[in-house]
Amino acid sequence: MDRPDWVPDDVDMSVPNVARVYDAALGGTHNLPVDREMLLQAQKLFPAVADFAFDNRAFLGRAVRWLAARGVRQFLDIGSGIPAIGNVHEIARVVAPDARVAYVDVDPVAVRHGQQILADDPGAVFVRGDLRQPDDILADPAVAGLLDLSAPVGVLLCAVLHFLPDSDDPAGLVARLRDRLAPGSHVAISHGTRVEEFDAAPMDEIGGLYRRTTMPFFVRSRAEVTAMLDGWELLPPGVVPIGDWHPELGDAVRPQPAILGAVARRS
Ligand SMILES: C[S@@+](CC[C@H](N)C(=O)[O-])C[C@H]1O[C@@H](n2cnc3c(N)ncnc32)[C@H](O)[C@@H]1O
Repeated sequence: MDRPDWVPDDVDMSVPNVARVYDAALGGTHNLPVDREMLLQAQKLFPAVADFAFDNRAFLGRAVRWLAARGVRQFLDIGSGIPAIGNVHEIARVVAPDARVAYVDVDPVAVRHGQQILADDPGAVFVRGDLRQPDDILADPAVAGLLDLSAPVGVLLCAVLHFLPDSDDPAGLVARLRDRLAPGSHVAISHGTRVEEFDAAPMDEIGGLYRRTTMPFFVRSRAEVTAMLDGWELLPPGVVPIGDWHPELGDAVRPQPAILGAVARRS
């Protein structure tokens, strides 16, 4: 197929990509046939796979509204994904019209589309960056120019840490971000987990599909996810299936045992 104008030249259009498969699951328009094919294959193995994306997005929305209601006025959304409906700046500004948001993703399609839609927004930026280099993200001129690191920041790490193997030391990266942020900052995380309710074979096969992308994923136990928040003050209700995280803040929140979520505060 011809290269759409939203696909940068360095993108291999024959390889499915995590950000674009997620966009397809959410009904977005920035995905390619190879991504939709991978989503279909995943849905054959596990029909509810698109629910993961919607339920995760709903958790992120509740966390952003909750943080904004607690006074957070600047957000750093790392592994933000391809912008679609319900972006963080739109959600936060319903509560706090002056909210500022820096989006960060490694995916070139996400970055190009994000920069296009935010070009006229003085309160939001979209930069290419890698969670594995948190200091580089914070030093990026666009991020440093928008966020005041001497004031609290709400960091969003939603459905991104499970793309990092243990060898990348995800807990150490979350700790590094904590050390760079002002007291009163918060982090919201969501992370895939293995649950007994699901048959192990389909989850492993879905994992096999993701290994065809440039980003395999690594589910972790509640104890492992909780350990990523060492040194943070874990806020109620703790590390829980995302459907159990403040369901009163959303509409028709579903149970979602395959994804854990939490919000924690830097004292
Ligand atoms: C499943 S999407 C989640 C999007 C969004 N955070 C959400 O929760 O709806 C995962 C995103 O993380 C990005 N990503 C994966 N590894 C990353 C890394 N090391 N640094 C920055 N972004 C990363 C992918 O490109 C993708 O856009």
